[in-house]
Amino acid sequence: MNQSRPAEIAPGIYWVGGTFVNKGLQCNPYLLIDDQEAVLIDPGSVLDFEEVWGNVCSLISPDQIRYVILHHQDPDLCSSVPLFEQRGCRFQLVTHWRTKTLVRYYGVSSDFHIINSHQNQLKLASGRTLSFLPAPYLHFPGAVMTYDARTQTLFSSDLFGAFSEDWTLEAGEDYLERMKSFHEHYMPSNEVIRPVMESLMGLPIMLIAPQHGSLIRNDIRMYIKALRDLECGAFLHSVRKNLDISGGYLASAEAVLKRYASLYGLSEAQRVLTESGLRADSDLRVFPAQEADHQMWNALLEKMFARKGLEWLLTAEPLVERLSYEYEIPLPEVYTAHLARSNSELQRLSEENKSLSAARDRLVENLAGVEHSMSHSMLTGLYNFQFFQKYLKEEIGGIIEKELGSSPALIVLSLDQTERIKYRYGDKEVEQMFKNTALLLESIREDYQVYFKLPGSLFACYIPHAAKERAVDVAEEIRNAIASSGKFVEAVTASIGVVSLQELQPEEHQKSIAPDRFYEIALERVRIAKNKGKNRVCGSSSPEDKPSTCDILLVEPEQTVAEVITVVLENMHYSVQHAADGEKALEIAGRFQPALILSEVMLPKMDGFVLRQELLLRSDTKSIPVLYMSHLKTEASVRRAADLGVIHYFKKPLMLAEIQGVVSNLAEKGERL
Ligand SMILES: [Fe+2]
Ligand SMILES: [Fe+2]
Repeated sequence: MNQSRPAEIAPGIYWVGGTFVNKGLQCNPYLLIDDQEAVLIDPGSVLDFEEVWGNVCSLISPDQIRYVILHHQDPDLCSSVPLFEQRGCRFQLVTHWRTKTLVRYYGVSSDFHIINSHQNQLKLASGRTLSFLPAPYLHFPGAVMTYDARTQTLFSSDLFGAFSEDWTLEAGEDYLERMKSFHEHYMPSNEVIRPVMESLMGLPIMLIAPQHGSLIRNDIRMYIKALRDLECGAFLHSVRKNLDISGGYLASAEAVLKRYASLYGLSEAQRVLTESGLRADSDLRVFPAQEADHQMWNALLEKMFARKGLEWLLTAEPLVERLSYEYEIPLPEVYTAHLARSNSELQRLSEENKSLSAARDRLVENLAGVEHSMSHSMLTGLYNFQFFQKYLKEEIGGIIEKELGSSPALIVLSLDQTERIKYRYGDKEVEQMFKNTALLLESIREDYQVYFKLPGSLFACYIPHAAKERAVDVAEEIRNAIASSGKFVEAVTASIGVVSLQELQPEEHQKSIAPDRFYEIALERVRIAKNKGKNRVCGSSSPEDKPSTCDILLVEPEQTVAEVITVVLENMHYSVQHAADGEKALEIAGRFQPALILSEVMLPKMDGFVLRQELLLRSDTKSIPVLYMSHLKTEASVRRAADLGVIHYFKKPLMLAEIQGVVSNLAEKGERL
């Protein structure tokens, strides 16, 4: 039966599916209308888009669709999204972050509402809340279901679905068997499905609306229990029934017949029975007209195969396999020719599965050891700087120590407008900008990438193994996502540095220095990107990329402090060179003759006082004004600085506004700044 019009299945909730039935797999998109807002749930495939579109437009104006929920990433529910976008719909795609990583490959352009960042909820303008229930590995790691408490409707996606020969919108009496068959194929194992079904037991549910098959309104707990107890998937481990062989053949024949009848109808099942020389009562209980043996079992399956072909054989395969195992009867001959999985392959898969789950357990254990608040930025939810340093040390150190062949890449980005937004809108808006950036990064993140929030306006992305070109592509994607986002109070861009571990010099390939050097190079490239005009990606430090000017020389051994001050000064439109010790500072000062030197007093190799003395000895550097900054600010150190002609002495921790004020004053007083 075809259902061609939209049908109201609960107050304000409509089935808006098409009539296309793809080899027995009907797709069910639903539309939830709430006041002026509408939510489209699992919108369907490209094949039935026109009908779904027509159904939606007959109920609402399509610009009312505010959200599209995607329960997982399969084409039967997602592939029509770009077509809705092409018709001018503007909505957010509501989904799990794991699903998002794959959904992007449909070429969608809409923004995402990642449910993991919203307590697994979607709040509509009216205050109505839709909740998302995790259904991990059923049949995708990020699979979820949606629960609408107002109507007690469970939008269950592939769960509770069924093959749909002779489809009806409402589930009929034979639905249970059809549903089992579908799950035997698509759900991985009872171990995975059981806990999810148990979690549904306590939930008040009036209606189950699956993405395939039919609506379930009656005996809901019976359906939940059936799936809770179902043996399904490639790793089924049934309990042998220990029945005698003839009982086994009869019971197996009955089970297979029931499944056949649920798909093709009772009269078709009766026809097969007769052609196989068997008889049964109206409940398909078989009377053995002849010896119930392997010959009968074979003949029955042969007959079914002859009438319905390979499709039936494949549909019934998990059931027949299980029955053969439970009753210790050989597989029907028609199957041995078609079964793709040999016992040895099953064994191999099972072994693989075991070692994968052991690895997962180890990972969970390790992660549990790290206190969440210690490792995460409270503001953005990303890993924090402390964790970043530890992580780099362990990852890079490990790669070098064990001489692993992997080649990680690091992307560091700095938001270009941080200072501007701070001065125009205040700290709260800066925090909002960081949060929005974290959400953006999360929305484009691939599974294997790790994101961090570093000090100041910096973020980082670590890619465990990637060719440099691939890392630059990722950086460009990040840059584009930020520059084109409408989430910020005003346009925001990022300057990005990219480095691959392979770029380190041979002498830097030491466990003790490689992690810091790796980060330093990325930071250097962030600065190059800024100097070249911001909003760009820099993946090399070749001499032509390095800035050829230096207004201010910053001498600061602490990398993060240097980064923060650099950003402040660059936002005042000065070009900045950085030296981490006194010797390097002297060399840069001689090469560039900056208009100003801002120097820490306590420096490696040559302290700030000696540096100033050395500068005074050279004609090309003697008149460069010098500012000091340090935690060390005593009577004696200030006097010594004054004797050396240092014009200002900042006490650390620094007030950035003070630095800006002093530098601005110097510029106004006619210094070269
Ligand atoms: Fe699916
Ligand atoms: Fe599906």
